[in-house]
Amino acid sequence: MLSLIEADMQAVDAVIESRLSTGVPLVGQVARYIIAAGGKRLRPALLLLVSQALGYSGAHRHTLAAVVEFIHTATLLHDDVVDESTLRRGRATANEMFGNPASVLVGDFLYSRAFQMMVDVGDMRVMQILANATNVIAEGEVQQLMNMHDADLSEAAYVQVIQSKTAKLFEASALLGAVLVGAPPAVEAACASYGQALGTAFQVIDDVLDYTGNAAEMGKNLGDDLREGKATLPIIVAMQRAAPAERQLLREAIEGGNASDLPGLIAIVQRTGAIDVARNVAHVQAERAMQAARSLPSGPATDALLQLAAQLLQRRS
Ligand code: IPE
Ligand code: IPE
Ligand code: MG
Ligand code: MG
Ligand code: MG
Repeated sequence: MLSLIEADMQAVDAVIESRLSTGVPLVGQVARYIIAAGGKRLRPALLLLVSQALGYSGAHRHTLAAVVEFIHTATLLHDDVVDESTLRRGRATANEMFGNPASVLVGDFLYSRAFQMMVDVGDMRVMQILANATNVIAEGEVQQLMNMHDADLSEAAYVQVIQSKTAKLFEASALLGAVLVGAPPAVEAACASYGQALGTAFQVIDDVLDYTGNAAEMGKNLGDDLREGKATLPIIVAMQRAAPAERQLLREAIEGGNASDLPGLIAIVQRTGAIDVARNVAHVQAERAMQAARSLPSGPATDALLQLAAQLLQRRS
């Protein structure tokens, strides 16, 4: 599926490498540390597949694909500080290796480098989409911080957060692919809703994997969300379904950050069937994404977008 954009992705990697240059050694060291660890490069893939589906072949697609990956990488550097995570992409997080200050500041470097690059593209619409997306991402992360330790968080409040912190960048990536070609508004809207639905499904699955995944496959630790007292969809549903005594244990874990018996808490969540409910929410969103993609011109790139949505539910990393 991704062979369609293999050459493009190499061009994107070349842009990434060339735009990491700086006279400050620590910047390059930290940025290369996380970027070289890999990552799925999903957001660039969305942008490239959409622009290919719509017939765009200009060089701006590589620049903008690198821009969305830089923004994503900046959010990861900041996220691991905020979440106090120690494992990312199968290695120690940058905060673990270089400390919180270096991670925060190099995240800022990547953000601002991304803005320099989008200015080079020189399209006000592109700048508007990305300025808006990064602002919404920041709002989502701050809202999530405010929701911390709330064991009664509603599903709607949860969805609001993940649409901001995660789906917004997927949406912007897919939308930019359409904006580059100068697609009509209806096509732009289809691409945006594809990205939004895919991104929402993606984060729901990420939150499921935080309970059910395999650290070696994910390259991240399990249980990070519960440990920090973050109520994600598996917990929200489990709170509705658990028997009173077990519900109280979940409540204490979220409110007090007491997740010392992580396996026991995970077992409670699984017994309530909350994992299946959450997977089903992701499934509905993936279907929504496919519905939107079906309105794009048929061809291999559109097929790849459909496949991406279909395979998302099976992802293990
Ligand atoms: C991690 O994103 C952050 C979330 C939105 C869950 P990815 O799972 O796309 O991270 P990489 O880039 O592949 O490492
Ligand atoms: C996604 O949420 C974070 C961003 C959108 C930056 P998580 O905090 O769950 O992401 P991971 O699990 O650490 O990758
Ligand atoms: Mg995190
Ligand atoms: Mg986080
Ligand atoms: Mg996560």
